[in-house]
Amino acid sequence: MKIYAHRGSAGTHPENTIAAFNEAARLDIYGVELDVHLTKDDELVVIHDESIDRTSNGVGYVKDLTLKQLRTFDFGSWFGEEHAGESIPTLEEVLNIFQNTTHHINIELKSDIFPYEGMGEMVLHLIEKMGLSERVVISSFDHEAIRNFKKTAPHIDVALLTTDVLVDAYDYARFIPADALHISIPAAMRKMTQEAMLKGAIIRVFTVNEVKHALALQTIGVHAIFTDFPEEMKKALSFS
Ligand code: G3P
Ligand code: CA
Repeated sequence: MKIYAHRGSAGTHPENTIAAFNEAARLDIYGVELDVHLTKDDELVVIHDESIDRTSNGVGYVKDLTLKQLRTFDFGSWFGEEHAGESIPTLEEVLNIFQNTTHHINIELKSDIFPYEGMGEMVLHLIEKMGLSERVVISSFDHEAIRNFKKTAPHIDVALLTTDVLVDAYDYARFIPADALHISIPAAMRKMTQEAMLKGAIIRVFTVNEVKHALALQTIGVHAIFTDFPEEMKKALSFS
């Protein structure tokens, strides 16, 4: 079972910051996950929430702020004073960290609340420019965005994010079409996951921070987990 560092290494470093991604890059793990939004001046930035309120000393929506304005805020202190001074990173800055590693990169398009017109195309342009097309999987809770992305770039892997228990997950994924399903722990424990995997679905599960859950998922046979504690999880699973 493969391990992806969730939002960099969100349990040990301020999520979705350069510090968190440097930590993920240092680790001998399969992959890394990150979240993308679009600024007021159409820059791709890496942050989880639509607003900066929770993870910075500023307030407001990413979509209402320019990159220059966003750069004036501190995205590290909320996590710990030793992380003071972390900036919001652009997608390009984060991808640069992984240019010389082997990490598989899961880019989540956060267009499920605000549609961020054109964001998928911008992400596609950047990953092609950086030569990363074969090392990424694009995911989203916005299945329309995934359908559009796959239509434009059939050669790039895409995944559907869902917390729902679907009746026929495999057929639904093929219908979009998507190459993988990224599902929650409760959904992974349901019959739909076994059925989908028997049909050949790739299943990755979020967010798995407890070793007992990881072990149960390993027994079920899921392909990968996303965890906020990649180093600890890797050690725990290697002893099991
Ligand atoms: O991609 C897995 C996971 O990151 C999806 O949920 O809310 O942590 O972005 P969230
Ligand atoms: Ca995410």
